[in-house]
Amino acid sequence: MSTKRRFQYLLLTLASQIKIHAIMKHILLLIAHPKLQESKANKALIDAAHKVQNVTVKDIYAEPFSVENYYDDFKRADTIIFQFPFYWGSAPSQMKKWIDEIFMAFCENPGVTGKSLLIATTTGSEYEAYRAGGRDQFTIDELLRPYQFTALYSGMDYLTPFVVYSTAAPNAEEYIYQGAEEYRKLLERLVE
Ligand SMILES: Cc1cc2nc3c(=O)[nH]c(=O)nc-3n(C[C@H](O)[C@H](O)[C@H](O)COP(=O)(O)O)c2cc1C
Repeated sequence: MSTKRRFQYLLLTLASQIKIHAIMKHILLLIAHPKLQESKANKALIDAAHKVQNVTVKDIYAEPFSVENYYDDFKRADTIIFQFPFYWGSAPSQMKKWIDEIFMAFCENPGVTGKSLLIATTTGSEYEAYRAGGRDQFTIDELLRPYQFTALYSGMDYLTPFVVYSTAAPNAEEYIYQGAEEYRKLLERLVE
């Protein structure tokens, strides 16, 4: 190939990559874990998310708690993820505070209509426990209704929750490894 042809080829490849990058969607992933340094499951999910382009991860227990700190990432995001370990059938408390104070402000400006909300959570209990008649009686879908309501009420699309069960099982590492792989694939689909 001549130098001129090689240069043209390089330009075309670059242009298509820039175009692909520009039309890809964005995700803002908010992780709410009060002891992230001790986490196995959520840490593995975050590591998986870091492998996907256009995903911004923010730790709401560590980041400055202000509207300004999240504004640009929130505005740009097509999908917002609330990721947390399941605590007492719900999220750790900072998640609720974030919704009540920061999400509330974003409903006014820049607005949330048209964005999607994904709940990604990890549970100590196994899938079978989260069934009617099971140890935890209710399904995760039922327990996560308040988030579904938040999405509905604010005009967001509510996506099917992503759950890694059995993080307290003797073979938890297998569930976590498999969950992290599935999470990466899901996020890749969401930014396409
Ligand atoms: C305060 C607290 C409450 C918890 N409540 C639940 C619960 O309601 N259901 C459940 O399946 N696991 C519960 N767990 C277990 C956590 O969900 C589990 O340890 C976590 O998902 C593991 O994720 P990590 O490795 O990122 O910390 C609870 C743990 C703590 C510390």
